[in-house]
Amino acid sequence: MDHSNLGGEKLNRTITIYSTRGGSGKTITSLGIGVTLAQKSYKTLIIDVDIEAPSLLHLLPPQSKKIQYWTDFLEKGTELELKSLMQPTKFENLDIIYSSSPKMGLRFLKGNADQWWEQALKHSLIAQKQFYEMGYDFIVLDNQSGTSMNSINNLILADISVLVVRPTNYGVGATELFIQELFRILKDMKPREDLFVWNQVPKVTKPQEKELLDKFITSWTKRLESMGLKHAASFPLDMMFNLQLLNDMVENAIFKDSEVGEKIEEFVDQYILNKK
Ligand SMILES: Nc1ncnc2c1ncn2[C@@H]1O[C@H](COP(=O)(O)OP(=O)(O)OP(=O)(O)O)[C@@H](O)[C@H]1O
Ligand SMILES: [Mg+2]
Repeated sequence: MDHSNLGGEKLNRTITIYSTRGGSGKTITSLGIGVTLAQKSYKTLIIDVDIEAPSLLHLLPPQSKKIQYWTDFLEKGTELELKSLMQPTKFENLDIIYSSSPKMGLRFLKGNADQWWEQALKHSLIAQKQFYEMGYDFIVLDNQSGTSMNSINNLILADISVLVVRPTNYGVGATELFIQELFRILKDMKPREDLFVWNQVPKVTKPQEKELLDKFITSWTKRLESMGLKHAASFPLDMMFNLQLLNDMVENAIFKDSEVGEKIEEFVDQYILNKK
């Protein structure tokens, strides 16, 4: 099926998944979005741009041992054959570009870091254009948490940004300041759709617990929306989902009988593919 020309309009989008704090669920959300799009026959590329703490190498290991990493590309640019970066996955239509654990010798840790990152952004923009030309419909960037030159670069590339936030006081409290700072930097960049999703929302049964959670979620949703972010989904804290990951069942964990998987699919339909 060729979806690349939906309704006469070319559907190329880069989606950057980011957060203030680590462990909020960026990687799981990125993978969920990527796998869902691929299963709907969209050619999708996930890039592990979390160069300080890459996860995909372990979560969905590449089939080949000898691979080139995104970190190599940021360093070398188009000297490096772009095709050498993409690795197929067990999911049809889904490729991944991996990052390796940081090599201490990389040039970005020395010398003029700002200049290094400027160059890295130029390389990324060229690559983004070429990935679309190669036929990818969607690029999903699994960002690193917090503000850094790297995470800002990956947000500059985005058409859709998705903030993943957990319902904890310290999590969302820090996020508010982070968003203000981030949007100040990004305000004159290309138009973006800025979304946020609650993740790891505990399932509660007792009325007092429900009231406490609802109150928290409602008031913070309002606050984040007043800052220009649109609430797009809430994914439950699903311990079985996590348990399945231990068994290396990424496919099952995300798709089979998983509430997280169901919610991610709803999110993709509504906010990425704009089906109401
Ligand atoms: N909805 C969920 N239900 C249960 N467990 C979850 C859920 N979302 C994420 N997790 C678990 O929480 C942990 C952190 O998730 P993940 O690695 O996706 O976060 P991250 O934001 O990418 O972290 P990092 O900042 O380290 O890159 C993982 O063990 C993951 O399996
Ligand atoms: Mg991650």
